Amino acid sequence: MAAQQRNDGATAVTSAGTKNRMSDSSRTIVAIVGSGLVGRAWAITFARGGCDVRLWDTDPSAAERAIAFIESVADTLAANDLLFGRSVADVLSSVTACEELPQALEGAVWVQECGPERLEVKREIFGRVDKLAAPAAILASSSSALLPSAISDGLEGRERCVVAHPINPPYLVPAVELVPAPWTAKAVMERAKAFLLSVGQAPLVMKRELDGFIMNRLQGALLEEAFRLVAHGYADADDVDRGIADGLALRWSFMGPFETIDLNAPGGVADYVARYQPMYAGLFEGMKERVDWAGPVLSKVLQSRRASLPEEGLAARQLWRDRRLMALRSHKRKAERDVGR
Ligand code: NAI
Repeated sequence: MAAQQRNDGATAVTSAGTKNRMSDSSRTIVAIVGSGLVGRAWAITFARGGCDVRLWDTDPSAAERAIAFIESVADTLAANDLLFGRSVADVLSSVTACEELPQALEGAVWVQECGPERLEVKREIFGRVDKLAAPAAILASSSSALLPSAISDGLEGRERCVVAHPINPPYLVPAVELVPAPWTAKAVMERAKAFLLSVGQAPLVMKRELDGFIMNRLQGALLEEAFRLVAHGYADADDVDRGIADGLALRWSFMGPFETIDLNAPGGVADYVARYQPMYAGLFEGMKERVDWAGPVLSKVLQSRRASLPEEGLAARQLWRDRRLMALRSHKRKAERDVGR
């Protein structure tokens, strides 16, 4: 680890072997507050997008560990064309660990909060950041489920606060839920969308906040039905999984449900609704009762999962998942170029 004096006066710390690039005033500065799993993944995303990234965390060793992680994956990302043409050296030298929060925030136009998912911690972080960050900076929380109004209520700069919820890791999964509080300025949402697009992400802009945002509501609806099918003995968990992995998700990996149905009836979406809504309406009657995921169905799901994958294989399988995800993202980028979006 080497500590260096920056030309803006901040003391920055980089891990061994990483050159500490001095601030280039032409580059957008992003501060990441909280340098755990999601913070380090955002750092790759923003650095790859051409930003100078400043990491800070209450745990003095966390930012340094984040940099070590970034160093460990950068070559593989480059080999899969997932540094978007930037060199490994450029990406690595764009990420700096800061010892103090004010130094991380100095000159930042975007602050990505990645602290623990606890309202009181988010409020404490936003309170400090709102006082320290430049007035024009956008303050974005990575929160999975907390509403932006709960996080930013009472802050002087509450109109510049949003939730920008990634699917982890954002450098492989581009969708980001951009959620306004009732008081978030329209111009802030527009700038936030433009910024996320500029670093290669795919913002989903919500018109107003709602529990579960968009993606967890969709995922929750699907999970509820998956549990129901197993709970009532209609199918094994394995076959439900195959229905998605080898069925619906093939289309869903490049188009959403509305585009899917628009293309699944000769006359488009209205034709699909006319033809198939009555069939679905009949199904929904049987879907009204909640399924207790922790009830007897859980042992069926567990039995099926552990038969396919013993518990000691979980970690290796997670690495396999990440490699498959990387291959898929790489393929999608190539297919978008070769076939079109
Ligand atoms: P994590 O536990 O890996 O990282 C949290 C980091 O915040 C730790 O390094 C911790 O030292 C630091 N921290 C604690 N108090 C702090 C404070 N007051 N100021 C600054 N840093 C502080 O957690 P993870 O998974 O990175 O989650 C971060 C946020 O991202 C959460 O809000 C979570 O809901 C959200 N998120 C997580 C996803 C995931 O798959 N893990 C996906 C999408 C969002």
